[in-house]
Amino acid sequence: MTNLTFHEQSIELSQREAKNGHKSAVLWFTGLSASGKSTIAMACQKELFKRGYQVTVLDGDNVRHGLNAGLGFSEADRVENLRRVAEAAKLFAESGFIVLSSFISPFRKNRDLAQSIITPMNFYKVFIKVTMETAEDRDPKGLYKLAREGKIKDFTGIDSPFEEPLSADLTIINDTQSIQAGVDQIIDLLKEQHII
Ligand code: ADX
Repeated sequence: MTNLTFHEQSIELSQREAKNGHKSAVLWFTGLSASGKSTIAMACQKELFKRGYQVTVLDGDNVRHGLNAGLGFSEADRVENLRRVAEAAKLFAESGFIVLSSFISPFRKNRDLAQSIITPMNFYKVFIKVTMETAEDRDPKGLYKLAREGKIKDFTGIDSPFEEPLSADLTIINDTQSIQAGVDQIIDLLKEQHII
């Protein structure tokens, strides 16, 4: 990049963490549409906020209305969607936040790219795992039905692949368990990792 200077921050991350009373981190949720990523992320955000932590959620459907409006679901657009989101998540983490990022991120290379952008900030991959049957039965937005009818192209799990993570820091099996159980697993992970 030409004619650009990188300015050092005037406040160290350690100062922000000392003020907040916890470390910053990105929890990168991955999973099929309707797996429960956003529901668990929102419930977890509420719980962490109640406990006084700096926390925010980045969510696929929301970000695609703003920052990433105009991007679709081709492989190239998903890569760009997730590259931008990873950069945004990193900015929040550098500002002291616990970031719950909720994107299908279906390809291993998407998640690897996100991890490489966000590192050396704390990064944890959380796989919200359900069977295709569960996701399709839930179908809260009616999108699986439209995809089956051929009215939506490149739909994850139907005519676009979802590559399960080979190494997740936490896997939440979310076919039948409660939202609260998932939230508890995330809080446990944050404690084990000494983030909170
Ligand atoms: S990602 O693949 O680039 O990570 P992202 O999480 O941002 O996806 O967006 C997924 C959301 O977009 C889904 O929850 C669903 O509501 C909507 N959506 C619309 N079209 C598609 C599609 N072809 N594949 C997957 N999700 C889609």
